Amino acid sequence: MSKTPSGAVPPAHVAIVMDGNGRWANKRFLPRVAGHKQGVDALVRIVQVCADRGIRHLTVFAFSSENWRRPEEEVSGLMSLMMSTVAKHLGRLEAQGVRIRIIGDRAMVSDKVRAAWDEAEQGTAHNSRLNLNVAFNYGGRWDIVQACQQALADGLRPEELTEERLSGYMALRHAPDPDLFIRTGGEYRISNFLLWQVAYSELYFTDCLWPDFDEAQLDAALADFARRDRRFGLVKGNPAGAPSA
Ligand code: FPP
Repeated sequence: MSKTPSGAVPPAHVAIVMDGNGRWANKRFLPRVAGHKQGVDALVRIVQVCADRGIRHLTVFAFSSENWRRPEEEVSGLMSLMMSTVAKHLGRLEAQGVRIRIIGDRAMVSDKVRAAWDEAEQGTAHNSRLNLNVAFNYGGRWDIVQACQQALADGLRPEELTEERLSGYMALRHAPDPDLFIRTGGEYRISNFLLWQVAYSELYFTDCLWPDFDEAQLDAALADFARRDRRFGLVKGNPAGAPSA
């Protein structure tokens, strides 16, 4: 198994809220979309580092259900960026062994964006080194509701609906829950990201704006994670599963 620079075993799943693109651009008197473009470059860098560190799942928040309320210019800029990112980086990601999945509500995006998603997912479906889940038009509450809707549509009776069963309908059903949740940009919020899945994630917040997030920043987060004492509701020293207060 790969190790982080500190020698610790890496988290299996890292989730990131890539915040701060707009402020990065504002500081340079650039349009906000220029910050998002730099954000894509940061993401491409971090994907490589995650693969090198042996992280198996990376889930990033690229566009939330609430982001539609941003200025039209920024929304259309993000949609175009989604398509140009697939065109520019798909070959490289495919060669790196990255499998891309888009999680989110596909109903509201254009046919062109959907076609880019299909291309990214189908072109990398055979890869398994790193699973990159891009949350686009995603909201944690939407995810829980759509999972319940699917379960009901499958005819599940109330008593059959367990946490485990519902997890099987969530957008990240193919991945373990995130071990480490990172948010850049200095805000201390979950912002309707993976609400169901972060129940026991370790949270890490940094003031670093996303376009500046690099290998050293990720390693600092991994080193911090390695020092956490994860108990999952148990008491230290008690056998796993033993009742605890
Ligand atoms: C939050 O920063 C960031 C976003 C809403 C978009 C994140 C998107 C990317 C990094 C690009 C990835 C895109 C693709 C196509 C995979 P913000 O704009 O809220 O920053 P601010 O808080 O400084 O205003």
